Amino acid sequence: MEIKSNSKITGLGAYLPEKILNNHDFESMVETNDEWIVRRTGVRERHISAKNEYASDMAIKAVENLIEKYNVRVDDVDMIIVTTFTPDHLSPTVSAMVQGHFGINGTGTMDLNSGCTGFVYGLCVADSLITSGRSNKVLVIASETISKVVDYSDRNTCILFGDAAAASLIERQENKGNFLVSGFSTDGKLGDNVSCSNFSDNIYGRLVGKNRIFQQVGKFVYEYVIKNVPNGIRNLLKKANMTLDDINWFVPHSANLRMVEALCEKLNFSINKTLVSNEFFGNTSSVSIPLAIWKALCDLKIKAGDTLLLYGFGGGLTHGGLVITW
Ligand SMILES: CC(C)(COP(=O)(O)OP(=O)(O)OC[C@H]1O[C@@H](n2cnc3c(N)ncnc32)[C@H](O)[C@@H]1OP(=O)(O)O)[C@@H](O)C(=O)NCCC(=O)NCCS
Repeated sequence: MEIKSNSKITGLGAYLPEKILNNHDFESMVETNDEWIVRRTGVRERHISAKNEYASDMAIKAVENLIEKYNVRVDDVDMIIVTTFTPDHLSPTVSAMVQGHFGINGTGTMDLNSGCTGFVYGLCVADSLITSGRSNKVLVIASETISKVVDYSDRNTCILFGDAAAASLIERQENKGNFLVSGFSTDGKLGDNVSCSNFSDNIYGRLVGKNRIFQQVGKFVYEYVIKNVPNGIRNLLKKANMTLDDINWFVPHSANLRMVEALCEKLNFSINKTLVSNEFFGNTSSVSIPLAIWKALCDLKIKAGDTLLLYGFGGGLTHGGLVITW
């Protein structure tokens, strides 16, 4: 049974690195072309972090954008959660580096890695901390520098990804929370289909190959998502006695626009009520969902009171979602 939430998202900022790679830029790197990339993925451009620009730098810029846009304070947050699978270091964490930069006293910090589902987890942890009474104000930041682990000789992978960061503020609003329901699922035994190794050279005995390089079995992931995510969504909505008719905006992980279209078709849900971020930003892993919301807010698409279904999927393999009102 879901407990009535006491937390509300009160602001959302974002940061995109300056450098842009368009599809034509890939034509000199691998055997591909703009027409194939647009037709199979929907991506036209993606932003790429500078050589010395890391997840913590981008997270800080996203928080600065949040502060500027909403005129809010972050010096009184009591938890900073950063979702990332591309942290600057294993230690210190990105969240601790954000704390250090802003000099926020008396706050907890944690990095959370659940691949592309990460931001949905981050929001759920923030809501749980606030609703249980343990926190009052939480920053949930997604920041990814995927370009630093992409193999630019692998045409199956490199064309998809981009770098970005997004920062959200979650605050206590007693009995007026906007988190309605959440649900998660993991298939760890399938993990080697989306991998980026660290210390170990194998996953369940299967060699990973290139160290610290993102690798995926794209076709398998595509089929896994189309097979499992619709049921995940139906189960999530059932828990809240809701149907897709109650949803104003579907915000799936922007892995690949064709995948999103296939999901909408399977769910019989209008693509026009779907928010994505991959056309001009690529697949930005855990940032893709907040980035799609940020863009829709800039475009004045989302209205106060709208119901949003956020659904992430990817590394783990994990998938999971969250329904919120705005
Ligand atoms: C990776 C992905 C874009 C490939 O698209 P696809 O439509 O499934 O393409 P396929 O893998 O069936 O490949 C079709 C052909 O295009 C080729 N191809 C792959 N990438 C190419 C590219 N960038 N340019 C041109 N051709 C390409 C393949 O080699 C293959 O050629 P072949 O038929 O001669 O073997 C797609 O599967 C995908 O997005 N998967 C999910 C990714 C994902 O969610 N990852 C998890 C992290 S969130």
